[in-house]
Amino acid sequence: MKILVIGGAGYIGAHVVHAAQAAGHECVVVDNFSTGIKQRIEAEVVELDIAAPDAGEKLTKLLSSQKFDSVIHLAARKQVGESVEIPERYFLDNIGGMANLLLAMRETNHDSLVFSSSAATYGMPDAKQVKEDDPTSPINPYGQTKLIGEWMVQNAANWGLRGVSLRYFNVAGTGKVGMGDTAALNLIPIAIGQLRRGEVPKVFGDDYQTPDGSCIRDYVHVSDLAQAHIAAVDYLERSDRPFDTFNVGTGQGASVFEVLNALRAASGQDFEIEVTKRRAGDPPRLVANVDRIAQTLGFKTKHSLADIVDSAWNL
Ligand code: WQD
Repeated sequence: MKILVIGGAGYIGAHVVHAAQAAGHECVVVDNFSTGIKQRIEAEVVELDIAAPDAGEKLTKLLSSQKFDSVIHLAARKQVGESVEIPERYFLDNIGGMANLLLAMRETNHDSLVFSSSAATYGMPDAKQVKEDDPTSPINPYGQTKLIGEWMVQNAANWGLRGVSLRYFNVAGTGKVGMGDTAALNLIPIAIGQLRRGEVPKVFGDDYQTPDGSCIRDYVHVSDLAQAHIAAVDYLERSDRPFDTFNVGTGQGASVFEVLNALRAASGQDFEIEVTKRRAGDPPRLVANVDRIAQTLGFKTKHSLADIVDSAWNL
């Protein structure tokens, strides 16, 4: 298949491009290179900001010049804190970019889309494992833009789009040398950065109602996540359903202390840990129920927490 990967030079996007190419697909990448890195990929690259005023026209031109079997859309701003500071940027870029893309797809008869959504759409769920049909109640503008993005995909069924939204849980790890997460905005890259600078990793609160008191998350290896996109593209080829949402996680939770212990093992360093106060807006527990993606796409993760942390440390 020929796949257009928007945001394909980013940390997750580049892993998707590699997985797609390894599965025999041809990829064309669109990226604005705000955080993307060209060296992560070997593919035809079109430099384009999908949220820019002239993006609609440019996307329509690109999609008329080549026919794609599917589009994977990962280009978005993704920093929760920044989204609270400048929500307008998030709505303009994440929602505006999506609107431009959907209009161009509609105009050029491209009807297959995989959209990067997020577990941030759930907000602060109570369930031990959160299911796709559980209530969505995002607690920050970032999560709101992802939920609105899902609605936009869903609405496009009116003109014949078939869409899949993948709700990513906590993505981490590295698939290949040079493809690591350079942003250092999440627990594992933050802690690795601190260790490398000789600083002490921090646990944001140990007084939650969880077995060891720290927050529990579902860490999914970026290479597994990339495979989920390939499974979604294959599914869209054979399905005639207008819209599906899938959690992408492992179904297993790990606490902050467990992650830092895995990092002790990976690094061979028995480092100190500092417990600080809670960070605002952290759900105590956010773990995926993965039954739907297993049953419908036949997708299951292969990598353990140790693989995730080892690869993030070593590659
Ligand atoms: C994980 C756990 C922290 C840093 C965020 C977004 C989500 C998604 C993924 C997308 C939490 C704790 C962290 C540290 C710590 N975004 N922590 N010390 O908040 O679960 O999810 O990233 O693109 O929408 O909200 O991820 O990695 O920030 O935190 O104790 O130095 O680690 O409190 O419990 P989070 P995270």
